[in-house]
Amino acid sequence: MATPATMRITFCCSNTKPEPWLAGLQAALPQADIRLWQPGAPAADFGVVWAPPQQFFDEQTRLKGIFNIGAGVDALLTLRLPPNAVVVRLDDAGMAVQMAEYVCQAVIRHFRELDACALDMRAGQWTFRTPRQRADFPVGVMGLGVLGARVAQALSHFEFPVLGWSRTAKNHPGITCFHGPGQLTDFLRQSRVLVNLLPLTPDTVNILNRDNLSKLHSGGYVINVARGAHLVEADLLALIDSGRLSGATLDVFRTEPLPPDHPFWQHPGITLTPHTSARTLRADSIAQIAAKIMALQRGDSIAGVVDAARGY
Ligand SMILES: NC(=O)c1ccc[n+]([C@@H]2O[C@H](COP(=O)([O-])OP(=O)(O)OC[C@H]3O[C@@H](n4cnc5c(N)ncnc54)[C@H](OP(=O)(O)O)[C@@H]3O)[C@@H](O)[C@H]2O)c1
Repeated sequence: MATPATMRITFCCSNTKPEPWLAGLQAALPQADIRLWQPGAPAADFGVVWAPPQQFFDEQTRLKGIFNIGAGVDALLTLRLPPNAVVVRLDDAGMAVQMAEYVCQAVIRHFRELDACALDMRAGQWTFRTPRQRADFPVGVMGLGVLGARVAQALSHFEFPVLGWSRTAKNHPGITCFHGPGQLTDFLRQSRVLVNLLPLTPDTVNILNRDNLSKLHSGGYVINVARGAHLVEADLLALIDSGRLSGATLDVFRTEPLPPDHPFWQHPGITLTPHTSARTLRADSIAQIAAKIMALQRGDSIAGVVDAARGY
């Protein structure tokens, strides 16, 4: 039976099997009372959430901390949250290396024309393509946060020219850094492959639109691994179909799962994956959340606290 002094943690994650999370959190925080949220449950101190219903926050008004089991908090911030709770996103927790491998494979697959090569082989044709120059494939990374900075660094190890764009000024060795709306056009004009790792906020929604995508080098290529609502899908299709852009790799979509009649499914220039570029890793995430809960209990500051006004 929980005493009033026992820390209570409530777990409310859609599309997530709760048992292993509850067992893992309990093992990491043996003194805590950790339960799956049910309507009418007693007030908890901390919530571990993914896409919870508004009812969860309407009832759990005494939460001190809300731990989102993903890096993006765009959906969470559309809800009415308890006024005194800090919102904490996953801070890498094993996602950065996944994102780096996903984006590097997409850039390399495009640069080395590996899809065309595979098609030739399937047709029984042993053909060679003229090697392309890395210097002709500058890669622009939008967002130089936890994931974007790791991706930019990984791309630079493959010796692509790498550019980055963020909200505030950055200085990453080997990366040509741009920041703010005033430097967006220069950043885009100097990029041939564009990788999106921005958070979805009022400032970044629809940022991958005709106007911006038309600033890439002719034959540019788009990799969207952030959120579907960053991309104006019809604009991308028009630019690829006109030959202005050469194609795209897309992991995220305005509607997920992608509707059965969506033109992306069959488009030969577009490679699709089902929002899988960087998955939440349960053990890493539990260790991170437990360590942060203990830090908050001690009154220490933690990384990954979301600024709701900024939107990420
Ligand atoms: N597809 C997947 O499986 C998957 C998995 C995880 C995450 N994601 C997405 O990836 C996003 C990025 O994650 P993260 O952990 O790297 O986020 P983060 O650490 O918060 O970094 C966000 C970056 O975007 C920049 N930024 C924000 N608003 C901007 C604006 N208006 N103009 C220019 N730059 C802006 C920030 O600039 P400052 O550095 O100046 O603040 C920062 O560099 C998440 O929000 C999520 O949507 C997708």
